[in-house]
Amino acid sequence: MRLSASELSRFGEELGRSLKAPAVIGLSGELGTGKTTLIQAICRVYHVDCYRLRHADEARDLGFDDMIREHAIVLIEWPERAGAWAPPLDRHFQLSYDDDPRRRVVKELAHA
Ligand SMILES: Nc1ncnc2c1ncn2[C@@H]1O[C@H](COP(=O)(O)OP(=O)(O)OP(=O)(O)O)[C@@H](O)[C@H]1O
Ligand SMILES: [Mg+2]
Repeated sequence: MRLSASELSRFGEELGRSLKAPAVIGLSGELGTGKTTLIQAICRVYHVDCYRLRHADEARDLGFDDMIREHAIVLIEWPERAGAWAPPLDRHFQLSYDDDPRRRVVKELAHA
């Protein structure tokens, strides 16, 4: 394969989608040949932050359907703000403050 930067990124994104943990991948090559570029593409996930939505209907245009269709990993902050437009969550974590300011409480919420 001889890949342009955008082709290398697409290759990495597809590889990332096809991987199932545990998986350990090595990348060798001279300085500047694209190892980090490829790793970033393999790890690329959709990150959606719904905090600024004023109304759940504004989430209609975020493209959740497309993300799910392409089997992407989608991480959503404040999914509750997207209301019914949020895709079904496979896992849902609730973070809150602890009495100790150096700690946070992480709780997995049950889902339907
Ligand atoms: N086809 C290509 N694929 C990847 N990177 C490309 C390509 N063409 C040009 N580049 C450029 O080459 C550089 C690759 O840098 P990158 O940091 O990914 O390399 P690296 O192998 O991780 O380097 P290092 O060994 O220093 O960590 C980037 O600046 C990128 O824009
Ligand atoms: Mg690097």
